[in-house]
Amino acid sequence: MDYQKYMLQVVDLVKETGVYLRQEQAKINSEIVEKKGKHDFVTYVDKTTEQRLVAALKKILPTAGFIAEEGSEQRIDKPQMWIVDPLDGTTNYIHGMSPFAISIALMDEGQIVGGVVYEVGLDECFYAWKDGGAYLNGKAISVSDTEYLEDALVATGFPYYDYSRLQAFMDSLSYFVQNTHGVRRLGTAATDLVYVACGRFEAFYEYGLSPWDVAAGAIIVQEAGGKVCDYKGGNDYLFGKEIIASNSLIHKTFLDKVSTFMG
Ligand code: IPD
Ligand code: CA
Ligand code: CA
Repeated sequence: MDYQKYMLQVVDLVKETGVYLRQEQAKINSEIVEKKGKHDFVTYVDKTTEQRLVAALKKILPTAGFIAEEGSEQRIDKPQMWIVDPLDGTTNYIHGMSPFAISIALMDEGQIVGGVVYEVGLDECFYAWKDGGAYLNGKAISVSDTEYLEDALVATGFPYYDYSRLQAFMDSLSYFVQNTHGVRRLGTAATDLVYVACGRFEAFYEYGLSPWDVAAGAIIVQEAGGKVCDYKGGNDYLFGKEIIASNSLIHKTFLDKVSTFMG
């Protein structure tokens, strides 16, 4: 399969769809925000965007199935699967803020082979395909060359529905706040990952995530020279609900620290 060809088509698609997201943000008010969980929000924009993306992705690769956050398509038994988050960062979006992103990955026989993350607010489109490198708006990107955790800027997401590991997370946060350049919480995991890929962050960790939050960002990190794993150092980061990503140079030190607190 020509993964590059598919990803470049997806790049065009997300940029087009981003225009709609930008337009609609001005219309959002509390009456049209629905709750999926206590702090888990969804709007007609998430749903409409997903429907549009699914319809267009079916034209790009008619035989593929979908794992899509808002459930507009559930064909999960195909060799090729699109993994779609139509709007990553809904909480930012409904509060009138950036960043927020569209995240689309292609999985072939169980392996992620391409990904596109379009951060709409700054009009930054990150993408990668297997063995093809990683790009931001047409330019090759790579992870940072920072060697020490104490020089790293670390990103994370705060738990918002699964509080079972909250104390362990707070302990890890306390360590990273005191022993790195600082910790950021952007509110979009897909964007956190691609910021590792282009060297803005050295590392990212979060638990409670879903495949659509991480699939595209993970391959972009890997193709940019970074490393991705679960909290035990294994490969179960797509469906395993926990992920660590880094510039690879600090990977071992960062993984050891995260697993000391949260493993
Ligand atoms: C959320 C964002 C956020 C992360 C949450 C995700 P959504 O996705 O990625 O950064 O902390 O865990 O659920 O709900 O805005 O698509
Ligand atoms: Ca998401
Ligand atoms: Ca979403």
